[in-house]
Amino acid sequence: MADGVLRYGGDYNPEQWPAEVWREDVALMRRARVNLVTVGVFAWSRLEPEPGRHTFDWLDQVLDLLHDNGIDVALATPTASPPPWFSLAHPDALPVTADGVRLHHGSRDTYCAAAPAYRAAARGIAAALAERYAHHPALALWHVHNEYGTTCHCAHTARAFRRWLADRHGDLDALNAAWATSFWSQHYTDWAQVDPPRATQYLANPGHLLDFRRFWSDTLLAAYTEQRDVLRAANPAIPVTTNYVLGDWVPVDHARWAAEVDLVAIDHYPDAVDGGAEEQTALAADLARGWARHGAGGDRTAPWLLMESAPNQIHAGGRMHAKEPGRMARHSLSHVARGSRGVMFFQWRAPAGGAERFHSALVPHAGPDSRVFREAVDLGATLQRLREVDAGTVDADVAIAWDAASGWALGHPGMPSPHPRHRDEVAAAHRALWRAGYGCDMVLPGDRIDTYTLLVLPALYLASDDTADWVGTYVHGGGHLLVTWLSGVADEHARVRLGGHPGALRDLLGVRVEEFHPLAAGQTVPLSGGGTGRLWTETVRLAGAQPTASYADGVLAGLPAVTRHRYGAGTAWYLSTRPDETTYQRLMTHAARAAGASPVCPDAPAGIEAVRRRGAGASWLFLLNHTDRPQRVPAAGIDLLTGATVDTQVHLPAGGVAVLRETGTAGVRPPPTAGAATGTLCRCCAPRPPRPCRNSCCAPGATTTPRP
Ligand code: GAL
Repeated sequence: MADGVLRYGGDYNPEQWPAEVWREDVALMRRARVNLVTVGVFAWSRLEPEPGRHTFDWLDQVLDLLHDNGIDVALATPTASPPPWFSLAHPDALPVTADGVRLHHGSRDTYCAAAPAYRAAARGIAAALAERYAHHPALALWHVHNEYGTTCHCAHTARAFRRWLADRHGDLDALNAAWATSFWSQHYTDWAQVDPPRATQYLANPGHLLDFRRFWSDTLLAAYTEQRDVLRAANPAIPVTTNYVLGDWVPVDHARWAAEVDLVAIDHYPDAVDGGAEEQTALAADLARGWARHGAGGDRTAPWLLMESAPNQIHAGGRMHAKEPGRMARHSLSHVARGSRGVMFFQWRAPAGGAERFHSALVPHAGPDSRVFREAVDLGATLQRLREVDAGTVDADVAIAWDAASGWALGHPGMPSPHPRHRDEVAAAHRALWRAGYGCDMVLPGDRIDTYTLLVLPALYLASDDTADWVGTYVHGGGHLLVTWLSGVADEHARVRLGGHPGALRDLLGVRVEEFHPLAAGQTVPLSGGGTGRLWTETVRLAGAQPTASYADGVLAGLPAVTRHRYGAGTAWYLSTRPDETTYQRLMTHAARAAGASPVCPDAPAGIEAVRRRGAGASWLFLLNHTDRPQRVPAAGIDLLTGATVDTQVHLPAGGVAVLRETGTAGVRPPPTAGAATGTLCRCCAPRPPRPCRNSCCAPGATTTPRP
């Protein structure tokens, strides 16, 4: 897709409407400056009403109409919703739940991704679409499937699982060792004995569950890549993607998928109201950027796109909360600030019928004479004014590690407490940094991290030896690290590392955890120096680290709660509990400052989200006022939204937004000083304001030595 254009639009379902509505649609799209729509996501039964008989005439007309009106198309393959004839002809391709129930047609996603008949039919419809539309002038992007995220436990799945396990483990001895099958008489002597983790009497084997998740992510990925290859072969110039759905239940390791898509695309629907929605939005966008960078081998400019979001609703607590005026734009611009190449919605027009008839739309049931459509028109104009920010990088001094497999492993019901969830701990760490105003990148174990001043590992439960080395090298070379409870406790097979927790990180943290003391929901423990811990506490023994806060009451009174340890040239912090939000923000700020990180906009008042993007020779400061009061923020530049010049202070109305093309020195990284005077900055210092090199590439105190 072309650079220099922020994409704007959403899922468009012309198959649900007569042709006269299509003409109104494109007129309204033009009014809103829509430039990309996703077509055909669930249209399989309208494209292939009988096996092999394709009815493309309506889609021909739609694509021509859109093209004539200057609107590009992300053409979807409709494989997330096979037609009724398919399910009738191939009952073995219907999915089976863990407790053996075969699901039936009647909703969507009723297929097993391991069933050969489904895979063949999916390739078939993708090939037919490719043959007809691969060179259509409206086509800008292929959108494969929709939100890969279903699971199945049928016989096809069992066969594929065994093949995958043989490939991963080599032989049954290795599998038995990895899964610790001597426990509860689970030792396998024949591959035929190994099944998907179906419903069983009591707790299932954690290694079995974890490998099934990995296998299923790979299975869904194979279903995606074979469609992608069909589409690419028809026209290699058209990028291909699929939209990621986020959630703990999703059996997909998005980071591993990122190298297989031409741009990462996410769907994001916050499920918290109030400030929680803004924080979730920032985290989702930072994750998408991290996945894109990871998939592109570290390229910080790798593209990603917000493919779906809700025009006017947040679903929380079992009901819909309408977004108040301006909130849709603020959420959208938070994504753009964090690198999204545009803003897309589900959905363009609200349908009269169907399961999601009350999901919000840019054209709601009330029609275009509505607040939501007027805001949609305004957002289109806003994105037009922001065209110049469609590239570049996002400033981040801090990195937070994310690991899908740790999340899956922590989901095992045999954990010491039901509370620990990787996603929650990542969100809590991100929230603390977000509130303190620091830019964050999300990284995967093994990613390049030498440009960050602080690395945070929130409940990174699984740590292979490679992951332990990755962290150790970073800290030893001068990096600052903050590790939270339940990180590094198990190896990559979910086997607990012995000798005291956290086995993989004990030495570098300078602590040895003897016992876990999980807390009850709502229970808190006071900490010395103020604040409380919740969810989890531990018996922490010092093995070189210094305590910086202790438990102030209860069975652990007087024992360390938070510690700091010098390791090589770096510093490693350990949090053995989840601090309350204020305390977490204070601790994170302290660690970030000590590491040399700077907030994006140091003097911004609380409730202002500040994100800085940089392109060639320019920087842009996004300021989003999430409060219900007007705010003043010290900054200078040209506000791209109003054209006004800002000399010293931006005045943001309640809920308002400004995007400054920065002038003066505000967004310009200070020129290298010591390093510039004498030579080239090393790789780890070059992109940052100069500071003493923290990595092993330079002699102590140096800022100039190039990495060998
Ligand atoms: C998405 C999905 C859309 C629609 C939307 C409603 O996850 O891709 O098709 O269902 O949710 O929230």
